[in-house]
Amino acid sequence: MGMSANLSRRKTLGLLAALPAGGLAHAYAARRKDGGLGEIAARAGVTYGASAGTVIFDDAEYRLLYLKHCKALTTDVDMKFDWLRPEAGKWDWGPADRLAAFAERTGMTLRGHALIWNENAPDWLKALSLAEIRRVFDEHIETVVARYAGRVAVWDVVNEPFWPGHGKPGGYRAGPWHEAFGPGYVERALKRARAADPHVKLAINEAHCERDDDVGRAIREGMSRLVAQLRDAGAPLDVLGFQGHLQPGRPYDDAAFAAFLRRFSGLELHITELDVNDETFPAAIRKRDALVARRYHDFLSAVLAVPAVNTVINWQLADHYSWYNDLARAGQLRSRRAPRPLPFDSAYRRKPAWFAMARAFRERKAA
Ligand code: G3I
Repeated sequence: MGMSANLSRRKTLGLLAALPAGGLAHAYAARRKDGGLGEIAARAGVTYGASAGTVIFDDAEYRLLYLKHCKALTTDVDMKFDWLRPEAGKWDWGPADRLAAFAERTGMTLRGHALIWNENAPDWLKALSLAEIRRVFDEHIETVVARYAGRVAVWDVVNEPFWPGHGKPGGYRAGPWHEAFGPGYVERALKRARAADPHVKLAINEAHCERDDDVGRAIREGMSRLVAQLRDAGAPLDVLGFQGHLQPGRPYDDAAFAAFLRRFSGLELHITELDVNDETFPAAIRKRDALVARRYHDFLSAVLAVPAVNTVINWQLADHYSWYNDLARAGQLRSRRAPRPLPFDSAYRRKPAWFAMARAFRERKAA
């Protein structure tokens, strides 16, 4: 990074700090026009953004990336059940409120993630009777959706409904909510969320559908069946979210995934957690980055050919904040080297993946 780039970054940080509160949204919008990924995507009819945690309030350089490139923000962990409610009877709204206020004053579309997920129940919830779990389910949805009504634009109401490995009928993911209501918890959650905010867009967010193996195909079938059932039942549903945690070590057929997306007429389709696991790629950074970039481009080219895809969200923006670092440290990846799954590196520089995404957005506009 050259001296002048550092100076100009410092100058920008100083300018933003000096601006009066009322002028911030305008100043941020002006920054984004300067070649930000969000602007490039918008020209192709796509809302682009990333997930974020409260680290953006401590790391000013990281925050600048969001201000420059993102038109949408997803709460990474801070609106999850276990983060809002770490203990029985206690609500911890601070971090979620802070992120919501940030999105509001910078003009970003806020995506709430996630109301109901069978994977993140704190111990206190697991210890309750099924009747109590049912009460907490309704209370949780009503309280959280009502609090952010008018501020959250899209709710991931149910996260990851399917996991065939759990052996439940229909391939549903096991966990307290499924145990309390059976698969009907999905419909119930959507209806409760709609009652608490008549205007927010309601989404089901699913993983692994991009994969072209037994797991991916089984989850795709599950999603198709679930959407048909929800339609028959008159349940409110506006958006399907597909996470897009691409793992090139597994089989993929992007065209088959795009064909699957085309089944869902009348729904918005969002890519909600995009990143590329580079564990199977060569260690040399240039080669690795080129392969990650190619994966981004191939995937986005296929899905952006589907007209209903109107949102693309990265899961964080810079490599050192990716969840893959936790997996690498825990020895859960094939390699312990620092992962490079995102469009920016740990010095906040654009990587080949950034240019691959920009190219995919520009090609959609030209098509
Ligand atoms: O902050 C604590 C830290 O104080 C503590 O020392 C450390 C010890 O484990 O834990 C830290 O918290 C971790 C947190 O990530 C940090 O952000 C939690 O243990 C860990 O469970 C949590 O993982 C999150 C995971 O969901 C589970 O909630 C990841 O950050 C988050 O990126 C990930 O996001 C999921 C989406 O919700 C759904 N799709 C898949 C995606 C990636 O796994």
